[in-house]
Amino acid sequence: MSSTLPADLDLLAGIQQLRVERKAIILAHYYQEAAIQDLADVVGDSLQLARAARDMDAEVILFAGVHFMAEVASIYNPGRIVLVPDLDAGCSLADAAPAADVLAWKAAHPDHQVVAYINCTAATKAAADIICTSSNAVKVVESMPTDRPILFLPDRNLGAWVQSQSGRQDISLWDGACEVHETFSLPALRDLKARHPHAQVIAHPECEPPILAEADHIGSTASLLSFITDKGEATFIVATEPGIVHQMVRANPQATFIPLPATCDADALPGRCDANECRYMRMNTLEKIYLALRDLQPRVTVDEETRVRALAPLDRMLAL
Ligand code: 13P
Ligand code: SF4
Repeated sequence: MSSTLPADLDLLAGIQQLRVERKAIILAHYYQEAAIQDLADVVGDSLQLARAARDMDAEVILFAGVHFMAEVASIYNPGRIVLVPDLDAGCSLADAAPAADVLAWKAAHPDHQVVAYINCTAATKAAADIICTSSNAVKVVESMPTDRPILFLPDRNLGAWVQSQSGRQDISLWDGACEVHETFSLPALRDLKARHPHAQVIAHPECEPPILAEADHIGSTASLLSFITDKGEATFIVATEPGIVHQMVRANPQATFIPLPATCDADALPGRCDANECRYMRMNTLEKIYLALRDLQPRVTVDEETRVRALAPLDRMLAL
């Protein structure tokens, strides 16, 4: 089918018509561009979207986020069509922990239990005892039996923060990181703090420890959003992907939000020295959403054996 759109197409009206015809529901992560968040049925963080995907009864789910999030929707809805605007919208954390390597790590530590951050593939989830998101990682780790040490993957920064919050020292960390959160600039943060001495720093736990050490509040995107609500005319330096600022302005129109820039280290991310936006999340566009609903492609599916094995640790998390 042609991917060329008629020049006179009203994209928003077209999407509206198709979502009704397809009996589709649109889920969007807080890191999506504002126009996509505005048309979604549910906007949320990973945990809110996982719950929404589990509780859905639409025939078609269009997931405006990244691939591992759509896989969760597919795990909970094997008989339904799960669409993504762009199949290449991946995640550096998911890429950091291929299932085969995780299985080898697990085999080398047979007495350990595995906690996997939801930012990993379905095949990697299938190797875990329980899943967590940034919203509930501390609670999940604290719920684990204390007689066996923990393997935590794939995010070393979230894992180190959970270690400090939970007081559990018996956690081994996988060496993965989010390519957005690991590139926030400490000199830029210190400079912003000097120029805005009353500003509060809010940070996602995927940030590196030196950034987290400067933060007044650390939490998932939903937690950061809830922190700034009802704070009136305050100023916030936002150390996470700036897509969330759209909801922050809505939740507290009197406040000022300053997105923290990325470091300008050409060796770390050649050609992307101002990259505080997630290039994967930003692959999704209104045009691609229109085409996905029109063509019912591209779809995300999970093979049945992996699905059943990944469902158990996801269910364990959602039951907490
Ligand atoms: P949340 O758990 O806050 O949705 O974070 C997801 C994510 O990809 C952070 O980079
Ligand atoms: Fe993955 Fe980082 Fe993008 Fe989140 S912001 S989807 S962790 S690459």
